[in-house]
Amino acid sequence: VSLKPYNTFGLPAVAQTLVRIEADADVRRVLGDATLGRAPKFVLGGGSNIVLTRDVSQLVLKVEVPGRRVVDERADAWIVEAGGGENWHDFVTWTLDQGLPGLENLALIPGTVGASPVQNIGAYGVELKDRFDTLDAVDLITGRSVRLDASMCRFGYRDSIFKQALAGKSLITRVRFRLPKPWQPVLGYLDLERKMAETGQHQPTARQVYDWICEIRRAKLPDWTVMGNAGSFFKNPVVTEDQCRDIIGRDPEIVHYPMPDGTYKLAAGWLIDACGWKGKSIGRAGVYEKQALVLINRGGAIGAEVVTLARAIQESVYGRFGIRLEPEPLVI
Ligand code: EPU
Repeated sequence: VSLKPYNTFGLPAVAQTLVRIEADADVRRVLGDATLGRAPKFVLGGGSNIVLTRDVSQLVLKVEVPGRRVVDERADAWIVEAGGGENWHDFVTWTLDQGLPGLENLALIPGTVGASPVQNIGAYGVELKDRFDTLDAVDLITGRSVRLDASMCRFGYRDSIFKQALAGKSLITRVRFRLPKPWQPVLGYLDLERKMAETGQHQPTARQVYDWICEIRRAKLPDWTVMGNAGSFFKNPVVTEDQCRDIIGRDPEIVHYPMPDGTYKLAAGWLIDACGWKGKSIGRAGVYEKQALVLINRGGAIGAEVVTLARAIQESVYGRFGIRLEPEPLVI
């Protein structure tokens, strides 16, 4: 099976076997199978956070669990559930169509609902963990279905237990979200403040915020269906106050944000841009013209070219700033 249509970077790779998972029972059927049961497994969602550099020898489990529903209305929140195979952006749009605001800042993020907790997706001041209730997952060894709450998921910045202790060990079938009542917009980001100033609308509806987010993202992030990419290629590095002061001493322009715990988050896009990478290429892999944090497939790229470009960027950022950039997508 070609995986090219199943990864947003559009990288070529082949999987020996791919099984579509539409329910928990499908996983148990695979585990009970004499040959498939023992094979190492690779869980595939929307393929929007992977860089394929080789063929996949593991058994690919493609999550296609469907369904969207309102589970509960409480005094202080709505609880909404979606199957792991649902497209993330379509789900966000559906919640707003139902009159259930809260996910609008996360509009237009590529990928599936089932993949969203894995890296704790986030944008414009909201992270998945801020709207998370519980999730269901199937253990890929025992076949047992389990329910995890937020503390069990160990969410961090673009991180969770599914990238750590449970990496490759479980398959997320359903996610439930908690959408707080009354709705409060999250408008603290510069890009959103600009929209408010431009339009003179300082008390936007959730639908208005959704439209703004879509406009902002379309203006600076490439559409993967036109130009392959995996969103931000590196995490924004977090440094101590001392390190930050040191860097500002040398580069006063550096874009940095104070974090609640006293550390500072640096804009990786700025660091890469400052090293002159914007618009550059190695082979058919390139750095997007409008956002240096996004690596793109200029057409026909292979995974090795993306990895070579990423390493070259890491080296120059380390050489100039002494900071090691960590890739956000999983490199296979
Ligand atoms: N910047 C530059 N040059 C560039 C790119 C950025 O100077 O080429 C500077 C700008 O000054 C800008 C700052 O970096 O103000 C931050 O850029 P931006 O607001 O575009 O956000 P980001 O830090 O690049 C993060 C997330 C995105 C998320 C946006 C909005 C990470 C790794 N990335 O990007 O998430 O959409 O904030 O919240 O945290 C993703 O994870 O795939 C992703 C797209």
